[in-house]
Amino acid sequence: MLAILSDIHANLEALEAVLLHARERDVSEIVCLGDVVGYGPNPRETCAIARKEFRLTLRGNHEQGIVFFPVGFNERARRALEWTRGRLLSDACSSTENDELWRFLCALPEHRLEGDTLYVHGSPLDPVTQYVFPQDAQDPDSMSRLFARIDRRAFCGHTHQPGVFIEGEGYKHPDELNGTYTPGEKKILVNVGSVGQPRDGDNRACYLTFDGATMKWHRVPYDYGRTKAKIFEIKELSPTFGDRLEKGT
Ligand SMILES: [Fe+2]
Repeated sequence: MLAILSDIHANLEALEAVLLHARERDVSEIVCLGDVVGYGPNPRETCAIARKEFRLTLRGNHEQGIVFFPVGFNERARRALEWTRGRLLSDACSSTENDELWRFLCALPEHRLEGDTLYVHGSPLDPVTQYVFPQDAQDPDSMSRLFARIDRRAFCGHTHQPGVFIEGEGYKHPDELNGTYTPGEKKILVNVGSVGQPRDGDNRACYLTFDGATMKWHRVPYDYGRTKAKIFEIKELSPTFGDRLEKGT
């Protein structure tokens, strides 16, 4: 069983809960669509897990902002990225471990095409930074431009809003599908949701499993109060990052 997850955002409690949940479902490989870091208090820990345990990790806009230059971030997010970079390169940690983490981040690919399946962080048109929001399904021209870049199916994250865009049929949230979807002949773009900062009004961590026929979104409760308390202790991380974990927005 393949698990696809995204937008962990340095939330160790959410990631550990998801990994435990996935192991109980015979998940044998994990693909991560980026944003392992940013916003949250444990970037070293989530990066180390991604490096060691995931078959593939893509570059999200937060990794891009750390390794290159933070373009398109608001002041709070930029401050968090600067703190994250400092944590990843901390003199208090072993230089070997710092080198391993930094090389891992620098080498993350922007996208991956495996057969007729495309993996991106943002969108098939702009794999790192473009958002595809549920409301974009109302714009047939932009949808047809997206689907022109998809052979059969694509998986994305970035908006932190899970769901599936079906060519010619619009968008559906997992709640409209009882949490599962079995693709037919139509092309699809699947958003796997966010592990560490869900924004669809449900504060449980979100990820997706796919057995080759049916995909299933999972919602996993975790101790967001612990993550929130850690965020509140770090002055460079805005308290709003902690508050939104509780709200799931
Ligand atoms: Fe993100």
